[in-house]
Amino acid sequence: MAFISSGYNPAKPMENRITDIGPRKFTEFFPPVIAKNAGNWDYHEILEPGILVHVAKNGDKVFTVRCGAARLMSTSHIREACEIAKKFCNGHLRFTTRNNIEFMVDNEETLKALVADLKTRKFAAGSFKFPIGGTGASISNIVHTQGWVHCHTPATDASGPVKAVMDELFEEFTSMRLPAIVRVSLACCINMCGAVHCSDIGLVGIHRKPPMIDHENLANLCEIPLAVAACPTAAVKPITAEVNGQKVKSVAINNDRCMYCGNCYTMCPALPLSDGTGDGIAIMVGGKISNRIKVPSFSKVVVAFVPNEPPRWPTMAKIVKKIVEVYAEDARKYERIGDWIHRIGWETFYEKTGLEFSHHCIDDFRDPAYYTWRQTTQFKFTSHLD
Ligand code: HEM
Ligand code: HEM
Ligand code: SF4
Ligand code: SF4
Repeated sequence: MAFISSGYNPAKPMENRITDIGPRKFTEFFPPVIAKNAGNWDYHEILEPGILVHVAKNGDKVFTVRCGAARLMSTSHIREACEIAKKFCNGHLRFTTRNNIEFMVDNEETLKALVADLKTRKFAAGSFKFPIGGTGASISNIVHTQGWVHCHTPATDASGPVKAVMDELFEEFTSMRLPAIVRVSLACCINMCGAVHCSDIGLVGIHRKPPMIDHENLANLCEIPLAVAACPTAAVKPITAEVNGQKVKSVAINNDRCMYCGNCYTMCPALPLSDGTGDGIAIMVGGKISNRIKVPSFSKVVVAFVPNEPPRWPTMAKIVKKIVEVYAEDARKYERIGDWIHRIGWETFYEKTGLEFSHHCIDDFRDPAYYTWRQTTQFKFTSHLD
């Protein structure tokens, strides 16, 4: 704690600093060959799908094997990954932002033994525990959110639909035959923890019904002013309701104003909006961060609603597969999905994919982000020149 009585000197805030805030510095965990060559890497190559080599100026090499993994992992799976890392990588292991596990070794012999070992590890039903792939012009792991497992506002599950889609696209994970990289993300509600708005294919859970109101418990569960303030469209207002002849404080919702965002439920658990038929998934395509070919862009809704069909979401998985197939067939090399659609036009995109166009797909969303964000990564900061 930063108290002067404990020896804290405000003039030198970093002096003798004792803290347990935050993780230890990442450099402590580098494999020796990476620590040794920091800042001195020359180039890297993809040797085959899922296997990279980074070469340092002095000739040192790091071979990386990228394996698909799940975001929600059992302890036994994590233990197994650690065992492999102990056996081949001196205990070092890396997780990527797309939930891939990367095993790194410093020589070709160990690489071969590692790959052979990984290929033997299978689940009881026969699928690979550590499938190798996800590099280059492939479909890497799907970034996803928490879903029905442990968030409070989901309109769809996360791990379930992701597994169903990835089973359809598995061959694109283990090969690099697409025109360019395809990033797929899933967010289980429009809070968008999954950042689907900047992915080539985005799956986003949507609610389609206003919240239900539990008048009986609302005043005991919620701060009514917070629930009112939480609504971005001012659809929530305080009222006095009647429950079993008793007057109670509660809220009313103007359903015509409601856009089913779930913000009020975040503040007030007596306003649930999860619904078996109302909830489902919208599919968006064409987002990207890269400024290659054309500037970065947001994804757009191309399928307004697919119902939740647990456990395998067959309709949704089929549509995603179709989009990938048509893109793979029609796009030019290096074109991301957004670049391809930009060239052929949205009308042609609908024609080629056979998706149905409806008024829901008309893009009338003009958030200030569209016109205030400079949608290119070519920033030229000049403050350093002062
Ligand atoms: C109305 C809500 C949001 C708006 C307007 C918004 C806007 C943006 C914009 C303009 C970008 C840059 C896109 C580009 O360069 O093409 C971006 C990227 C990103 N957003 Fe959002 N965002 C929103 C919500 C969220 C939420 C809720 C999350 C997750 C907590 C999120 C996560 C991200 C991430 C991780 C990126 C960067 C992706 C990357 O660089 O690979 N966003 N967002
Ligand atoms: C609006 C956006 C987000 C919300 C509402 C949200 C909410 C949550 C919640 C409720 C948890 C569970 C905490 C617990 O079980 O104790 C969690 C865990 C976590 N979140 Fe987020 N999150 C958001 C965005 C993000 C983003 C953008 C990232 C990554 C960049 C992220 C990474 C994580 C991780 C790594 C965990 C722990 C994983 C786990 O315990 O399973 N979250 N988040
Ligand atoms: S996207 Fe929505 S439902 Fe999914 S984890 Fe984030 S806040 Fe929860
Ligand atoms: S779901 Fe969203 S728009 Fe509807 S009442 Fe709640 S906060 Fe308002």
